[in-house]
Amino acid sequence: SAQDVAAGERSWNKCRACHQIGEGAKNIVGPQLNGLFGRTAGTVDGYSYSAANKNSGITWDEAVFAEYIKDPRAKIPGTKMVFAGIKNDKEIADLTAFLKQFGKD
Ligand code: HEM
Repeated sequence: SAQDVAAGERSWNKCRACHQIGEGAKNIVGPQLNGLFGRTAGTVDGYSYSAANKNSGITWDEAVFAEYIKDPRAKIPGTKMVFAGIKNDKEIADLTAFLKQFGKD
């Protein structure tokens, strides 16, 4: 089934207490998420990451993001992101489509 950006935007409601995305997005509880895919983990300017996130060795692509968002503390033990995760593969695909709309600039 096709990725559904509108469904992904609804899923983004689970993230927005802690993350911003889009024009003018700032670091708040978590780092801003513009240009996530292709970025090395722990590299948003001005955001104070945990050592675990910063040193994870991850480059965010769709596959590793899907593993991470299912269970963040399993993929990055010691992360300070307190989020239970999203277990449903279709929801993750839709959220990914939503996030991919926002590039670096
Ligand atoms: C880090 C995504 C929900 C707080 C991250 C990172 C991603 C991400 C990809 C790593 C960024 C990087 O390496 O530059 C998401 C998504 C969410 C979500 C897609 C919703 C589905 C939340 C929630 C909170 C939160 C609800 C707060 C309760 C954080 C924090 C970090 C982080 C504090 C930094 C982790 C560290 O330095 O250890 N998030 N997040 N996130 N997120 Fe989230």
